[in-house]
Order: sequence, then structure tokens, then C-alpha cells
Amino acid sequence: MKRMAIVLAAGQGKRMKSKLYKVLHPVCGTPMVGHVLDAVERVDSERTVVVVGHGAEAVKGYLGDRAEFVLQADQLGTGHAVKQAKALLGGEQGTTIVICGDTPLVTSDTLERLMELHDRAQASATILTAELDNPHGYGRIIRAEDGSVLKIVEQKDATQEEQLVREINTGTYCFDNAQLFAALEQVTNNNVQQEYYLTDVIGIMKVQGNVVQAYCSPDPAESIGVNDRLALSEAERLMRERINKRHMLNGVTIVDPMQTYIEAAVTIGADTVLHPGTVLRGSTVIGEECVIGPHVEITDSTISDRAAIAHSVASSARVGQDSSVGPFAYLRPGADIGQDVKIGDFVEIKNAVIDDHSKVSHLSYIGDAKVGKNVNIGCGAITVNYDGYNKSVTEIGDDAFIGSNVNLIAPIRIGNGAYVVAGSTITHHVADNDLAIARERQVIKPGYAEKLRGRAKAKKERETQQGEQ
Ligand code: UD1
Ligand code: CA
Repeated sequence: MKRMAIVLAAGQGKRMKSKLYKVLHPVCGTPMVGHVLDAVERVDSERTVVVVGHGAEAVKGYLGDRAEFVLQADQLGTGHAVKQAKALLGGEQGTTIVICGDTPLVTSDTLERLMELHDRAQASATILTAELDNPHGYGRIIRAEDGSVLKIVEQKDATQEEQLVREINTGTYCFDNAQLFAALEQVTNNNVQQEYYLTDVIGIMKVQGNVVQAYCSPDPAESIGVNDRLALSEAERLMRERINKRHMLNGVTIVDPMQTYIEAAVTIGADTVLHPGTVLRGSTVIGEECVIGPHVEITDSTISDRAAIAHSVASSARVGQDSSVGPFAYLRPGADIGQDVKIGDFVEIKNAVIDDHSKVSHLSYIGDAKVGKNVNIGCGAITVNYDGYNKSVTEIGDDAFIGSNVNLIAPIRIGNGAYVVAGSTITHHVADNDLAIARERQVIKPGYAEKLRGRAKAKKERETQQGEQ
């Protein structure tokens, strides 16, 4: 049976009170509609149509060629939204999943089970339902005395008695494609919200004597429909728990899952330990046996096996095997740290290669640079890469030694094995194995400290006497 999907994503999401269109609000770093597409793709939908309206260009731009799109120019309800897909899918035979773009927690496992039941029962429609302690706001599943589904009633249209029902419509369904579009022709907007409800299709099919089934989700958390920021934070928490659990089952130690924030696309190798306050974002890849945290934020970066990073921030950076970063280091875009490198406290690296076995141990800024292997950069040494207009490059050869508090005024090259003496401000290239010193020669004035103190003391006494007079 051909599998298709229709994703509803045309609503503005008024209750979010946001400039960002609802389905583009991220949950653990991925827009809600992205999570929905992930689930749909995993059940091998052959054609996926996303109904767009508010923010159509933004939603299309985000999803790209992952789906086909139809425009719902006016948002006249979920039934009206599905009907817009008729031009694309109306002639197809098969099973169509309809799912809302604001239900990011629905899993592909659940979709798979929903479709199994649908096929087994040869149903016209199968609804994914859930039992909630607080069903307020959701459509209710109204069943006959024999337990069969009769219809779905929206919160706003429900009688007192219907509002007591705790089984809700999650907004995800399986339909026989041809019967879905036939039933939609009969849906009216004769209800409190004057909308064309998709949910009315259920009652219509039932009256026609068709088979309608419900599959009650074993995990009600999957059913969350995000309509406001409260539900958004709830979805974020549930998704975070799900992601953390997946990593722990894959062999990652998470010391305190409540204080560890991992976005959906991040990958982490086994035997890595994450300490509290770790935030891993975007396309970050962490290797095996790493120690990350406490208090680390890593975005779109690759961290290789056995690296250790504490109390630091990295974005669009790379850290090689066995290297250590922090505490209090800042790896900015283009920081490319080799193997067995030490990046110590209060060090900032931007757009710079630090090759294997080198050390930048304390209080340095290295920007727009290429640092070779086995280099030692002393405390407080910096690259001076910007003249207010241009960025210039610093090159430091293998085995070079840069003393403490050195300024390297770029463009500049320090040769292999060269030695730059502490406190120097270097403006000319230094050839391989040369020594460079660029500072005032020291002057000694014997006993002068005593003399200086005597003078200062006398001045203080004069001033005190004047004050008393
Ligand atoms: C809907 C269901 C309700 C269910 C709930 C689950 C209907 C009538 N009600 O209610 O039974 O319990 O979802 O979360 O279907 N959309 C469009 N075009 C429209 C209207 C909505 O594309 O004209 C999209 C929205 O962008 C959203 C989805 O459809 O992604 C659901 O719409 P929403 O207004 O959030 O419906 P609910 O009131 O939550
Ligand atoms: Ca909703």
C-alpha cells in the first residue's frame, strides 16, 4: 500500500504571541515541523505534502526539497487545510497520514503502529489518541457504548458531559486516501469557531458505515500539541529527556540529566562523560571517552576522542584527540585544534590552526594564525591581527617558543625552532632557529628604592601637616 503524508503547517499560532511562525519554533534546536518530517520520513512516506500559509516562504525555505507544498491562502480550519492537498494527492490510492506541524514529539514507532492497526482493521480512518489527566483544549474522542469511535468533538463545541472525556485526539490520523478527500467534501463550518474541522471527517465516515479505529498512544507525552509557550517548554523538557535517554543507553554517562542540554542532531561516542551545565548544540559531534563540562557550551563543533573541555565555549571549532581545553577558554569559528594540544585558561582562539602537541596555556588571543607542532605560546602572548581595517595572518613554525607577554604584529612569520624573548613586540619576520628580542634594555639604579620611598614619605607628611593647620 502506497504511503503518503499531509503535514498541516499553515496556522499562524496566535497563542504563541511571536513573530516566528509557530511550526518554526525550535524544540531542542530543531523547528517543530522538522521533527514531524523526521518521523514521517522514517515510515517511508512516498509523497509528503506540507500545507503552508502563514510564513509559507519561511517554512518552505526551511524544509527545502524534503516535501511538496500547497498553499492554504486563508486559514479556514484543519479540514480546509487538508483539502488543499487534493490537487496533488486526490488521484492517489493508498494510506495517508495526516499530522499537525505542532506535534513535535510523535515518534515514527507510533506512526508505524498506527498504520499497522489501520491496515489490519482495513479501516477508513484510524485516529491516534491519548489519555490525558488534563484534556482541556484538545478534541475529545466520543465512543459508543460498545467502545467504537463515534466522532471527535472540539473543546469549544463540547457539552459538559463530553468535556469529562479524557481520551483526546492527538491530531494525527491514518486515512484511506480516496475516502478522506470524498468525506472532506461534506465538511461544513457549522460550529463555534466557524472553521472547517478535519475532525468532522470521522463522524461523516462513521455515519456512512465505514470502519473507524482509534489507537491509544502508550506514551501520552507524544501527543503534546504546542499552542503556547507553556506547552513549548513542556515539549522541550520531554524531548530533552528523550534525547538524554538515547545517549545514556548508547553508553554516554550523563552525571545530571536535568542539567544537560543536548540538541536533537548532536552525536556522542561511548564512554564520554557529560558533567552538569553541558549544552551541546547544532551539528556538534563528540567522540568517545571525552570529558565535557562542567559548564560547557559547544555549537556546530567536532570534538575528537579523549578530549577534555571544562568551563568553556566553542562554536564552529574542531578539537583533536587527547587535547584539553579550559577552564575558561573560548574557541571561536575556525579554531582548529590538533591532537594532544593544551588550550588553557582565558585563552581565545579564532580562525587559527594550533597543530599537534602545542600549548597555549594562559591568557592568550590567537586569531588568524597558523601555529605549527610542538610550539609553546607563553602566558599573555597575543597575535595583533587587526589594524582597524584589515585582518592579517601570523605564522609560527614547528618547535618555536613564544615567550610570555609577546605581541606578534601581523602579518608576520616566526620560523621553525625560533625563540621570541618574553615581553617583545615583534614587527619583523624571524627566520628559523633565530632569536628575537624587542624590548628596552634593563637599567639598575643601586639603592634607589630607599631614596624613592624616603621622598614619597616626606611628601605625605607635608600634606598631612598642611591639612591640620
Ligand atoms: C487540533 C484538532 C484537535 C486536536 C488538536 C491536537 C481540529 C479541528 N482540531 O486542534 O481535535 O485535539 O489539534 O493538537 O483539527 N492549521 C492549518 N490551517 C488551518 C488551521 C490549522 O494548517 O486553517 C494547522 C496549524 O498550523 C497546526 C495544525 O493545523 O499545525 C493544528 O491547528 P490548531 O489550530 O493548532 O488546532 P487545535 O486547536 O490545536
Ligand atoms: Ca494545536
